[in-house]
Amino acid sequence: MAARVLLKEGSIAVFLLVILGIMVLEHQYGQVRSYLSSNSNTPNVVTTSSNDRVGEARAAIQSCRIESLQDIKQFFGYFDQDKYKCLNKKSFGGTESYGLNRLIKFTDGYKYVCLDPGVAPPPSHCLVYSFGINYEWSFDDAMGVYGCEVDRLGGIKDRLGHAGRRIDVLKMDIEKMEVEVLEEVLSHQPELLTSVTQFAIEIHPGAYKGQNLSDPTNIFQRFWRIFQQLKCLGFLLLHWNYNPAVSNRYWWQGSRQSTCYEIVWLRPPA
Ligand SMILES: *[C@@H]1O[C@H](CO)[C@@H](O)[C@H](O)[C@H]1NC(C)=O
Repeated sequence: MAARVLLKEGSIAVFLLVILGIMVLEHQYGQVRSYLSSNSNTPNVVTTSSNDRVGEARAAIQSCRIESLQDIKQFFGYFDQDKYKCLNKKSFGGTESYGLNRLIKFTDGYKYVCLDPGVAPPPSHCLVYSFGINYEWSFDDAMGVYGCEVDRLGGIKDRLGHAGRRIDVLKMDIEKMEVEVLEEVLSHQPELLTSVTQFAIEIHPGAYKGQNLSDPTNIFQRFWRIFQQLKCLGFLLLHWNYNPAVSNRYWWQGSRQSTCYEIVWLRPPA
């Protein structure tokens, strides 16, 4: 008898706790909502509504005409195209390293950013998202000194999706994983990239040694598709250079190439 009463009182207590829990959660959710809506009044926020952005980005990818890479010279030639005319391009970061048994000193880890009005990260309220796994943070530190809030690491897609703000610079140094990440983002959530103004990345296609380019899974073919999709989203080539590490350089039919490239694209605001 006493046990049954206790059980009954216990159930009521659990019931009350659940109700209290729901109220607390609702309160917190409300705070998050009001935080988000108050944040949406800051000047840094993407102005088009997020539904528009999602629709526009997906339509741009769907209607994107992709041509396959015909030969490797076409890939190398990608970098010869006219670049975005930036009047004030500045490199941030960089640390000295040694190659070839400490005989050759070079600087690695820097990235170029365009500081022209309209596309420059606004120093008082800029946002840099940095995804890297090579323990090279000199660029991030330099952007912090410039005045940006720098958000490092984390799940790439989750972080991009939750940003909600314009991302002035997205930096990605993820040592060969970039091709998977970009293919995934471009085919499923291209809108994650259209809130980015400048996109600095190190790509690692490796050396071309006569691999079969008719194979759609060939790494150069995959990067070629990515280049075209980025163009369809409105990204223009701002800068490129061979990765400065001498050990990454190689020759292919008389032309000196590199197994990895530093690339920056810029998406001018509409
Ligand atoms: C190249 O790849 C294509 C498509 O996978 C295949 O049909 C062709 O036979 C390959 N060529 C050579 C030389 O291996």
